[in-house]
Order: sequence, then structure tokens, then C-alpha cells
Amino acid sequence: MVAGWAVNSLEHCHPVVAKTVTGQWNVLIQVSNQFYTIPQVRLAELLVQHSCLDKVFFGNSGAEANEGAIKLARRYGKRYLNGSDDVITAMGSFHGRTLAMVAASGQSKFQKPYFPLPIGFKNVEYNNIEAVKAATTDKTCAVMLEPIEAEGGVNIPGDKYLTEIRTWCDQKGILLILDEIQTGIGRTGTLFAYEQYGIEPDIMTLAKGLASGIPIGAFLAKDKASVFTPGEHGSTFGGNPVACAAGYAALKFIIDNDIAQNAQRVGQYLTAGLESMRQKYQLIIEVRGRGLLVALEFGSDIAQSVVMACLDRGLLVNRLKPNALRFIPPLIIGNDEVDEALNILDKVLSDMVS
Ligand SMILES: Cc1ncc(COP(=O)(O)O)c(C=O)c1O
Repeated sequence: MVAGWAVNSLEHCHPVVAKTVTGQWNVLIQVSNQFYTIPQVRLAELLVQHSCLDKVFFGNSGAEANEGAIKLARRYGKRYLNGSDDVITAMGSFHGRTLAMVAASGQSKFQKPYFPLPIGFKNVEYNNIEAVKAATTDKTCAVMLEPIEAEGGVNIPGDKYLTEIRTWCDQKGILLILDEIQTGIGRTGTLFAYEQYGIEPDIMTLAKGLASGIPIGAFLAKDKASVFTPGEHGSTFGGNPVACAAGYAALKFIIDNDIAQNAQRVGQYLTAGLESMRQKYQLIIEVRGRGLLVALEFGSDIAQSVVMACLDRGLLVNRLKPNALRFIPPLIIGNDEVDEALNILDKVLSDMVS
């Protein structure tokens, strides 16, 4: 129920990914980015065909994808918004562990040990459009959000929040960056979570499940926001042929087999099972999630002991917070695996209350 932190969307060593990686391994492993490679182009085309974005830049991780997105927004601000360079982000968000992404992530536990942090980020209350409006100034170039705050608690915004944010960004002429590193590539029941909110980002970042286990990151932008000129951004390993071939194989499989739909269906089954458990055990106070990004919240800080007891019985689950668990399994699991997990959790909780 962890999938390498929401990475192994097709489980460990799925044959489609494993064969592609070993095949590509024997053809071409790395070239400089003076050249494009066919795996890069194929993956970029597939991403563009299946998203609302027009251009893709490949990197190696989520944090790096977000760094690139912020750099792009700042270039946009310099060019079109009188030099604006501030980015508004949300409290409770998680955007990665580089210094700038620590500043972007609105959680003091990640920030405090590393003061002083890079400037240019304003963390405001999540799910509060007024907070974004109040923080917007003529120095703002973008708002960056996770459609659902994943690491921060599986916090699901109100129905109107993202549309209101989109409208506000349009009114102000600033960019909307969606970090879909955890919510993307089918996890929440659609290929990208933004589809469920009826909005389109100007920039979107991806990593984690994109290549189902091989390190990769990407940021995508609409043409209007694609303001980099050659040399303004780069990465030695970004767009590596092996990573991109794995990404293409995983993404194509996910699209062709409608794995997002499976995530939605099995996610509902998991959520319903956890909900029945909530009715059985007063220890549980809330179940929330979309697709296969699900949290279970307890009334007290027992998550660590639940995790350890589950581990003893063969179930891996994530301690999201002292009082909450997160379920982020591979997207190809079925109801049988969910039943197995629920049975173990049931036994663990029943032992705890007896
Ligand atoms: C939403 C989100 N953004 C960014 C990151 C950072 O990704 P990486 O660890 O690949 O740098 C994560 C990782 O958990 C994430 O969940």
C-alpha cells in the first residue's frame, strides 16, 4: 500500500517497464542534451497528446521539476509582468527538498532546520481563495498548488477552490502551476487530477509514477508560458533515454489500459472498506481520498504503532502523520489485494481495542 512512495504505479518490475529498460539499455544509455533522442520525443509527444500542455522539459526528480517550473514562471514574470518573481504556495503543501522547494512547501518542519531560505515564496492557507487574493501583489508571477495536498495530509480542496484560483490567476494575468507529482499519472482516478476540477494549469509538474520506478521528472507548459530560450535551463541527465523509454512504456500502458479508471474503481472499494472500518472502530475519525490516494485519520496519535503492527503481519502502509495513515498502492491492484490489506488492518485494530 506504499508503492515506493506512490512511484511504482505498475508494481515492482512490471514486464512492460522491465523489458523496455533492458532493451533500451542495450541501445543507448546517455547522450548530451546537444541532441534529442527518440525516447525523449516519444514520451514528450505522448504527454502533450494526453494533457492540456504543449511543451515538456525532462529532469530527474520531482523537486527538480518544480524548480524548473518556478524558473519558467520567473522568466515569464520578467518578460510579461514587469519583472514579477514572487510565487504564492499553500500551507501544508509539499514540493520537494531542495532549498527553494523547502521554501515553497508550506510546512515549518521542513523549513526551520534550513533557515535562511531562498526568498520569493509566500505560503498561504490552503483551500482559501481569499488568502491567495490577499497575498497577490504586483510582484506575483504565479500560484503553485497541489490539486490535492498529498504528503501534507491528503487534503482535498472544496469543489470551487481550484476554479476560483484559475479565475483569479486569469484576472491578474499570473500563471497557475499545478504540482501533479503525486496526483498525476492516474493516481486520483483520471490521468491528471486537474481534469476532475474542470480547469487547466499553465504549467504542470510530474515525477513519481511517470516511469513506474525509474527516476524521472518533467514540467510541462502551455505555449504562452513556454518562454525559455535555449540555454536558459538545462540538465545533464534530464531526458535520459532509459528513463524516457521507461516513462513512455509505463504511460502508454496506463493510457491504453485505462489504469486511471482502475484506480478510481479500486479506490472507491478501498475507501468504502475503510469507511466500514470507521463505523466499527471509534479509533478512526475520518477516511478521505481520491482514487488510490487515500488517508485514514485516527482520533489520537496511534499511526506509528498501527504501521508497525501491520508490518508484522505483512502489510506496508504509510504513517502520514502521527494520527493518520496513507494508502498509495500501485494503480493496477484489484479488490482482492484491497481485501487482504483491509483484513490485516482489521486484525491490528481489533487487537488494539481488545
Ligand atoms: C507533490 C509532490 N511534489 C514534489 C515532490 C518531490 O519529489 P522528489 O522527491 O522526486 O523530489 C513530492 C514527493 O513526495 C510530492 O509528493
